[in-house]
Amino acid sequence: DKVSLWGGRFAGGPADALAALSKSTHFDWRLAQYDIAGSRAHARVLHAAGLLDAANLEAMLAGLAILSADVASGAFRPAEDDEDVHTALERGLIERAGSDVGGRLRAGRSRNDQIATLFRMYLRDHARSVASLVLDVVDALVDQATRHADVPMPGRTHLQHAQPVLLAHHLLAHAWPLLRDVQRLQDWDVRTALSPYGSGALAGSSLGLDPEAVAADLGFTGSVENSIDGTAARDFVAEFAFVAAMTAVDISRLAEEVVLWATKEFSFVTLDDAYSTGSSIMPQKKNPDVAELARGKAGRLVGDLAGLLTTLKALPLAYNRDLQEDKEPVFDAVDTLEVLLPAFSGMVATMVFDTERLASLAPQGFSLATDVAEWLVREGVPFRVAHEVAGACVRACEERGIELWDLSDDDLAAISEHLTPGVRDVLTVEGSLASRDARGGTAPDRVAEQRERVVAAVSAA
Ligand code: ARG
Repeated sequence: DKVSLWGGRFAGGPADALAALSKSTHFDWRLAQYDIAGSRAHARVLHAAGLLDAANLEAMLAGLAILSADVASGAFRPAEDDEDVHTALERGLIERAGSDVGGRLRAGRSRNDQIATLFRMYLRDHARSVASLVLDVVDALVDQATRHADVPMPGRTHLQHAQPVLLAHHLLAHAWPLLRDVQRLQDWDVRTALSPYGSGALAGSSLGLDPEAVAADLGFTGSVENSIDGTAARDFVAEFAFVAAMTAVDISRLAEEVVLWATKEFSFVTLDDAYSTGSSIMPQKKNPDVAELARGKAGRLVGDLAGLLTTLKALPLAYNRDLQEDKEPVFDAVDTLEVLLPAFSGMVATMVFDTERLASLAPQGFSLATDVAEWLVREGVPFRVAHEVAGACVRACEERGIELWDLSDDDLAAISEHLTPGVRDVLTVEGSLASRDARGGTAPDRVAEQRERVVAAVSAA
């Protein structure tokens, strides 16, 4: 006979097809230790409320300790007939502490407040581990930026050469969004640190159990204000899934650049053998699979978020069984990031840049034309005119197949009376970089300061 939590009202057990549909142990078992921690805290408030005497409390905690060890060792596993993690663990406790003691634990709680609490506990732990893995990527970027403090590269807009920038500036431009993702997880934690335990099925508990005591016991900052909200809300799951997706999307933007940079045509980076793959047929191939998988997994995490939001859309209050569908997408998001991020930070840490190539390409494609225009502005020329004059320089160079700095003093003077030889000061990459010295700019001093602020933000995180 199937063990069920609601036998009293029912003449028979569930159909096999229902049991198969209903079952969630294949994915919610990972919450088992959180469920046991919740049970310990619940046993203590039952005792505090006078509903469990000291001997029973002791027997229950002893049973839970054995159960926890058996779950950890794998000696206790969900059985075929267990519907979910809660059902399985209640059976496990009864097997260990006896049905009189074990059967007392369920008073004043529901699987609805239980699951809402455990899920928060699980995600809060993984928010911390994911954040630390994201910070490893930031560290790898900062190390590369430190090693290449003075290396210029072609800065791009529309993927076209735009203006020279420091490689360090570009790498740190990838660090900031990742730092914000970590901050998002920390902000999220403030809202998620409230325990729904004590909400019961939806209406709260009548047994004099103290939700704040359970919350403190489980490491929450407090308990929820509203028992309906406590059991029905899943915005904390969706918000986590958003940050996970955003992190993967941020990673994917660097990944895409690495894929480009590793091509023969760009030849900006060589990937370490440990973070490259070969081809089963083409002996010469060295492929950037880590970066490609990062790009691909970002799509998967966006899908996890979209699926979750679709489950929540228009779902009436309070608990509905649809909510059982909230776990797999975000478990997938956690698992994906926890396997992706270490590989990604390893790849970033070990990339070798062709610094000479980066430097020599930095001024090509007339990327100093803006510097000519801005030099003219500093000479008192209106920007509209300056833009036109600099454009005429580019056109003259293009016609003759030369670069801006190849124009002679006579060529310059012929284009505009304003173009005196002093303009040559900004026709070098160094001059261009050094001139962009406002806060946030690519001048070497500013970038060095910026790097220190990233380092400070990492230690503060
Ligand atoms: N397994 C369910 C879930 O993951 C929790 C149990 C609540 N089930 C119920 N029939 N009230 O959401």
